[in-house]
Amino acid sequence: MPSKEEITLTVHFEESGAGIPILLIHGFPFYRRLWSGQLESLSGIAHVLVPDLPGFGDSPASLGAPSVDQYAEDCLAVLDALNIMEPVVIGGLSMGGYIALAAARLFPLRVRGLILCSTRSGADSTEAKAGRDKTIAQVKESGTSVVTDGMYPKLLSPETYQAKPAVAAELKEIMKGATVEGVLAALTAMRDRPDSTSLVPNLHMPTLIIHGKDDQVIPPTEAEAMAKAIPHNDLHIMDQAGHLPNLEQPEEFDRVVKKFLANLL
Ligand code: MLT
Repeated sequence: MPSKEEITLTVHFEESGAGIPILLIHGFPFYRRLWSGQLESLSGIAHVLVPDLPGFGDSPASLGAPSVDQYAEDCLAVLDALNIMEPVVIGGLSMGGYIALAAARLFPLRVRGLILCSTRSGADSTEAKAGRDKTIAQVKESGTSVVTDGMYPKLLSPETYQAKPAVAAELKEIMKGATVEGVLAALTAMRDRPDSTSLVPNLHMPTLIIHGKDDQVIPPTEAEAMAKAIPHNDLHIMDQAGHLPNLEQPEEFDRVVKKFLANLL
């Protein structure tokens, strides 16, 4: 394993707009394309930054030990590269939410607001960890399709699959940005992530919690539990949305996020 100093990581990112900086972190097994709608729709009021985590999209895999803390540092490196030293809004979907929570724990002074979408504060259970190990072995054996094919039927709400075939097709495209190295690293990082349950009552930044009512990957009860614990939060449970509310109900998602951003100004 190389030492930290030897790891030179290039995190690819896209940006748009001007205004309050907002860094949006994708979930698993996606890449920055998950946020293409927001890259455009939020650009009128915000400086939107969307990184590809290592091993996803156009970012090379990392040689270092995978962890949500390392991913948080990788994302913050984007801000450093652009010399953005003011506190920013950090938003994350699912695994991106685990990373946003890690950023809030490690760098609280750099976080002006948090958006926790389709995520949870708890760590993996023993059973979930065993599931990650099984998936890691399967991916090593036969590639990423075991993850992408396995997750595809669970990611959207029944209404989205039925009424929005373009969204379902876009989801398939987005999952093509996952490499074996990236998927293995992310599964390891998620399996080993710390429990943030005791962190969330100490989050003092404004926090927006968004969750799809029909999320089959992480149930909305997780969002409700975070809303009970986080001091300054706004909970928004979205109808006709599964695990990916920003793709499934983009108008509503963007309206809620814009309101949150406007209240921070
Ligand atoms: C995600 O959508 O980022 C992942 O499914 C979250 C997880 O597996 O815990």
